[in-house]
Amino acid sequence: MLELKQVSHAFGERRVLENITLQLDEKRIGVVGSNGCGKSTFARLLNGLLIPQHGDVIVDGLNTRDNGKAVRRKVGFVFQNPDNQIVFPIVEEDLAFGMKNLGLPKDVIRERIDATLARYDMESFRQHPSHLLSGGQKQLMAISGVLVMQPDYIVFDEPTTLLDLRNKKRIAQAINEMDQKTVVVSHDLEFLQDFDRVLVFEGGQVVIDDIPSVALPAYVRMMS
Ligand SMILES: Nc1ncnc2c1ncn2[C@@H]1O[C@H](COP(=O)(O)OP(=O)(O)OP(=O)(O)O)[C@@H](O)[C@H]1O
Ligand SMILES: [Mg+2]
Repeated sequence: MLELKQVSHAFGERRVLENITLQLDEKRIGVVGSNGCGKSTFARLLNGLLIPQHGDVIVDGLNTRDNGKAVRRKVGFVFQNPDNQIVFPIVEEDLAFGMKNLGLPKDVIRERIDATLARYDMESFRQHPSHLLSGGQKQLMAISGVLVMQPDYIVFDEPTTLLDLRNKKRIAQAINEMDQKTVVVSHDLEFLQDFDRVLVFEGGQVVIDDIPSVALPAYVRMMS
């Protein structure tokens, strides 16, 4: 379970999150809210990319404040722009990087890369230059790079914003089919329709926390 206990965070004078307490245990949780309301800040707290100024974030009992490395193994993170995530020039090298860091044996690394590329019909891209992939392929590869690490949770920060309709659907399907528990920040309300829970952020707080059929129409009314 992901837990926030009285979490507040500010950047300089700008207070972004105010005293948030939440327990997140559903399979798919959506996060919506206006631009600049703190969704990405919230997302980055969940895997210890950001440590809260006040309060605690607890991942399966581990406080992100003192267990950064263990927390990041448990909680994968997919950025909006895959160019921020893809580091190595060749697809296979990029996918292997995190696993090599963990000291996993070569055959395990190979097996996991094979399985993940097969899952997304991208076997033929193994030796492909990463920067020559299309936007949708890059996002699938960024997701693959997280999946090969076999985290228990994956946080997505606007994974479909830069994609065309076909790739949006492809990424949405990939997320829906995952075994991991996911937290997905998105402005695509249709995508979140069949999630288990939706959090609406506004003014540094979670102002609506409900099933999508209740939370999403309420959010639309709030924004109009
Ligand atoms: N590293 C930082 N340093 C200073 N200010 C920051 C930093 N990160 C975020 N902010 C500020 O915190 C506020 C919340 O930003 P955040 O990125 O969390 O919003 P968001 O809800 O993800 O917005 P969007 O929908 O546009 O992605 C914004 O005012 C932003 O300018
Ligand atoms: Mg954001």
